[in-house]
Amino acid sequence: MTSSADLDTLVQRLRAAGCVFAEEEADVLLASAGDGAELERMVADRLAGVPLEHVVGWASFAGSRVPVRPGVFVPRRRTEHLLAVAVGLTRPGELVVDLCCGSGAIALALHAAVPDLRLHASDLQPEAVACAADTLAGIAAVHAGDLFDALPADLRGRVDVVVANVPYVPTAAVPLLPRDAREHVAPMTVDGGADGLAVLRRVAAEATDWLAPGGRLLSEVAEDQVPPALALLEASGLRARVCEDEELDAHVVVGRSV
Ligand SMILES: C[S@@+](CC[C@H](N)C(=O)[O-])C[C@H]1O[C@@H](n2cnc3c(N)ncnc32)[C@H](O)[C@@H]1O
Repeated sequence: MTSSADLDTLVQRLRAAGCVFAEEEADVLLASAGDGAELERMVADRLAGVPLEHVVGWASFAGSRVPVRPGVFVPRRRTEHLLAVAVGLTRPGELVVDLCCGSGAIALALHAAVPDLRLHASDLQPEAVACAADTLAGIAAVHAGDLFDALPADLRGRVDVVVANVPYVPTAAVPLLPRDAREHVAPMTVDGGADGLAVLRRVAAEATDWLAPGGRLLSEVAEDQVPPALALLEASGLRARVCEDEELDAHVVVGRSV
């Protein structure tokens, strides 16, 4: 049982350490810790700058708790727009790949939203592959490897939807990310090369080989990356458009195989 004085003290400690949402974080920490000793360990980690989601071992995404492990990219609220676009473009029973799956948050939410999907997920980071494999057990086949190289060869030409939340932060902007997002995940989870589009460029170049006729490739980008991202999808032979969500400040490019 935690008194309101304990709660106030915890909120003050978190606020003093620079946590903007100190009240919400205090609630999450209190609800996650099994006892006082565990709470103190969690608070110490958080005060040392470890992301809240890594401290408690889960992130909230699309209304569910998604397990996240140290080093694994924490799914963002903004990415719920990518999920919403994917749900709108995916029919029951289709073959779907969550490429660059990280924790597996997108595949998990897609499974909950669209019935009977045949799901595959893949990532290059071993920690992400292990995390997603546990979370998606019985839901998706999880593969390790570089982009499409990770997938079973017999999926080539048969995939209905590729959802690829690839790293898209330009290399020069990585040091400007908030400390949480910079120091506790591997650079490969965020660094998208010189213009931020290097990974998407590679995905688009191979996508036409893996998509079925009429298949869709979906990827989140920053607002200023929309024109070059649409151009690179078109250059790869996909028919491209953008779906925006102003409230989430989210931009998703969609390429359709013709
Ligand atoms: C921005 S995170 C997105 C993770 C997850 N899809 C999400 O939305 O929370 C990008 C992911 O791409 C993975 N990644 C980076 N380069 C990759 C590559 N060449 N092949 C496969 N995965 C890669 C990273 O390990 C990371 O998990």
